[in-house]
Amino acid sequence: MPNLKEIQEPVKNELQEFASYFKSAMADDKEVVNEMVEYISQMQGKQMRPLFLFLSAALHGKINEQSYVAATLIELIHTASLIHDDVVDEAYQRRNKWSVNALWRSKQAVLVGDYILARGIRLAVDNNQYEVIGIMAKVIEDMSKGELLQSDASRNLNIGEKEYFEIIRCKTATLLASCGVSGARSVNAPAERVEVIEKFGNLLGLAFQIKDDILDYTKTNIIGKPISNDIKEKKMTLPLIYALDSVGEAEKNTVLEMLHHVDTCPENVAKIRSFVIANKGIEKSQQKMEQIEQEALELLGNYPDSEYKTALMNFAAYVLERNK
Ligand code: IPE
Ligand code: IPE
Ligand code: MG
Ligand code: MG
Repeated sequence: MPNLKEIQEPVKNELQEFASYFKSAMADDKEVVNEMVEYISQMQGKQMRPLFLFLSAALHGKINEQSYVAATLIELIHTASLIHDDVVDEAYQRRNKWSVNALWRSKQAVLVGDYILARGIRLAVDNNQYEVIGIMAKVIEDMSKGELLQSDASRNLNIGEKEYFEIIRCKTATLLASCGVSGARSVNAPAERVEVIEKFGNLLGLAFQIKDDILDYTKTNIIGKPISNDIKEKKMTLPLIYALDSVGEAEKNTVLEMLHHVDTCPENVAKIRSFVIANKGIEKSQQKMEQIEQEALELLGNYPDSEYKTALMNFAAYVLERNK
């Protein structure tokens, strides 16, 4: 399996430079703010979005100041979205550390999430990068909509494959797609190329979230966030949807009833998990994810061979094979 270090290699200097942009973009002179953002910048994630953005820029031209600003804005938006997501999901673990809401409570987490988002937008304004703000406004709208749709689905427990894909397109795929787009736009790639890399990012984003949803079922504790949290939060993700699709109406209703009462009957979590595994929910999701990855890889056929193209192919493989 390709490791992240290998994939980062062709843009490793840029990623290093990015790290200092990212850290200084959040810094503040107020101690109370700084204490939180220091903690947040230490709990570094995989930084897959800046990586994809730089690879997309390098594939189409020469990485420049505009690419750095876009990468920083996007990672800030991602960071803010995770801080808010952990409030919404009542999750107390993130990147092997306490989540922000666990350490400072939800109120502070909501506020610092907004602060980080605003700092990202200000960075773009200060650098006269208005186009990327336009792109990101639409992405943030989609991400919020995706979370709202998901929250509604958890209340009504009534979604199927089609609705699931709409949710993950909004909450995850559009942000990944925007990395491809802003990377390519930062080096003035022609419109038809931007469209191809946007599609690639969208497909990878869907695969990325399916993998995240599979990991929630299959991993023990090495992913650095709580496991089986999706069942606890009554999220109907693809493994559960496929398992439910494969049984009769009566069994389906029994499982949905268990899910409905998961707050008061925590033992239902293990039962639902076993149901999903026994009914091949994981395998079927895996197959769907591989099919999507194939579709994404075909799009790269439009590009001549280069180290960046190879890195993007490995990036796609990593999305599927990663363990965290
Ligand atoms: C987590 O994204 C949120 C999802 C969209 C599933 P990542 O897995 O990229 O999170 P970090 O940044 O590496 O922690
Ligand atoms: C993705 O959904 C969250 C965002 C797009 C912000 P999840 O709720 O599954 O993400 P994790 O598992 O908490 O990282
Ligand atoms: Mg979550
Ligand atoms: Mg998850």
